[in-house]
Amino acid sequence: MAGNDDGAHDAPYTIKQQLEWATGILYSISCSAALDSEVLLAFCLQKNRSYLMTWPERELTSDQYEHFHDLIRKRLQPQPVAYLTGSREFYSMELTTTPATLVPRPETEMLVDSVLDLIAGLPAQKILELGTGTGAISLAIKKYAPESEILATDISLPALQVAQSNALKHHLDITFIESDWYQSVQRTKFNIIVSNPPYIAASDPYLSQGDLPAEPLQALSSGETGLEAINVIIQGAKEYLQNEGWILLEHGYDQQQAVTGIFLQYGFRDISTLRDFNDLARVTLARK
Ligand SMILES: C[S@@+](CC[C@H](N)C(=O)[O-])C[C@H]1O[C@@H](n2cnc3c(N)ncnc32)[C@H](O)[C@@H]1O
Repeated sequence: MAGNDDGAHDAPYTIKQQLEWATGILYSISCSAALDSEVLLAFCLQKNRSYLMTWPERELTSDQYEHFHDLIRKRLQPQPVAYLTGSREFYSMELTTTPATLVPRPETEMLVDSVLDLIAGLPAQKILELGTGTGAISLAIKKYAPESEILATDISLPALQVAQSNALKHHLDITFIESDWYQSVQRTKFNIIVSNPPYIAASDPYLSQGDLPAEPLQALSSGETGLEAINVIIQGAKEYLQNEGWILLEHGYDQQQAVTGIFLQYGFRDISTLRDFNDLARVTLARK
């Protein structure tokens, strides 16, 4: 069955043909072209990805075909797959994800692992998450440490609405407030402060590459150096953490030294940095 450049075939359109066509076309904008195609076609057919492998010769209806081609057109703009399907998996939870929120990244699961390791076996802990986005970090902590008491903040009201709906969907009891970092947080002491703040330098060309232009800029960058938000968060933590309390921050692979320096400047101790599955410095934690 011959196909032309825009993937328009003479009917029938099989799953296998459509995946091959979409993968070929998405190579220009995505390093996960095959996966993107599978996720989008599975979404379109309301099936899981294994269905596509099991039934490669199944034909698409013309509605499914139109829908899939519309999704591929949008992916080429490029819009992130998670915005097109409206969801992303994080810590084995399906989270609603919209253009108001950062798309949760797999490497951020490390931040959750580290918090869960720190609080394992301790009595109920008071946890503050700054910049919650979809709520990914707080939801995952609450799911695996249900006794913990979590306050999650964001400056973006639309993001908070998404986070709140994710908490409802997963039956997790978390308090959300709109706040510019600590500004609207009551002066109370927490055992743990955790954040994946915006940490890309405003002039970094990376911001204009791949899917990043589609994500909210305030979720990615907080200023010229990329360390502005980190600085505010660490400085404020002195006031909001109990003695012996921990703060854990995700940061860029090249920011370990700078972040350690800021922790030292504000008198934190027991500072250490964890590396992700690509062996890149990713999370630095410190104790008050
Ligand atoms: C890198 S995203 C992290 C989102 C989510 N925690 C995650 O890991 O997927 C940073 C978040 O910080 C929020 N943010 C940016 N500036 C803020 C500020 N001044 N106060 C509070 N939150 C802020 C953004 O809206 C965004 O949701």
